[in-house]
Amino acid sequence: MKITGQKREVKEIVKQWRAEGLSVGLVPTMGYLHEGHESLIRRAASENDRVVVSDFVNPTQFGPGEDLESYPRDIDRDAAVCEAAGASLIFHPQPEEMYAGDACTFVDMTGLTAELCGKSRPIHFRGVCTVVAKLFNIVRPDRAYFGQKDGQQLSVIRRMVRDLDFDIEIVGCPIVREADGLAKSSRNTYLSEEERKAALVLSRAVRLGKDMAENGEKSADVIVKAMTELIDREPLARIDYVKAVNAVNIEPVSVMEPPVMVAMAVFIGKTRLIDNFVYEGEDR
Ligand code: PAF
Repeated sequence: MKITGQKREVKEIVKQWRAEGLSVGLVPTMGYLHEGHESLIRRAASENDRVVVSDFVNPTQFGPGEDLESYPRDIDRDAAVCEAAGASLIFHPQPEEMYAGDACTFVDMTGLTAELCGKSRPIHFRGVCTVVAKLFNIVRPDRAYFGQKDGQQLSVIRRMVRDLDFDIEIVGCPIVREADGLAKSSRNTYLSEEERKAALVLSRAVRLGKDMAENGEKSADVIVKAMTELIDREPLARIDYVKAVNAVNIEPVSVMEPPVMVAMAVFIGKTRLIDNFVYEGEDR
């Protein structure tokens, strides 16, 4: 497995693979890899001849006062995870390699980014779409793999690929959880022992909402209210949002007409965590 920080080198390596008739999967990450990322890499390795993992803490998706500087980084550990999971190449650029000093072109999206994380983090999805579009152009993969934990991001990327005619299959992969239910996240490392316990309120709320939906509750408002009340009972939790939306276009819904994503962002102390479930209907 090779690590490079150079776009040019990635392009040359992928060109060589293409000449050999090999298929290519891309797993975009911001590094500090956990079992969630590992599951994406393993899936990509099972469906493609070669896998590129990008490992880049993308500055353009962090707003002022967010955790760009403190976001955890450990490329040596990431390299070991990638190698064990079957990656062939890590692209680990410096910000100057990704963005020219005078870069002024961005991929922006309306509609799908108006709610949920897009509302609380106004420039976030512009940064995500821009960096993912750049990664797609650098690697030109057949398939790209994203986790369902960032559920809105997955819908946004699918729409970008459709709207901009990228010839890439987007593969969404299930949320990977700790044994006690907490969704795996690089940001879990910020939590103190007490906060780590309090953070379980997110997965408990997901469990509650999912059970209500699967047991026939048709009102999204009733489900969101029950989840909100559960989270509000945890003293260390402060809700950013709990909301039911159509999972494809991210428009708010009040009826559980599939596909519905019930998503949340909750501060546990200073750490903002997200989680969600998708209701696909009774026959799925
Ligand atoms: O999900 C992430 O880690 C990031 O948003 C992504 C897709 C790698 C873009 O920087």
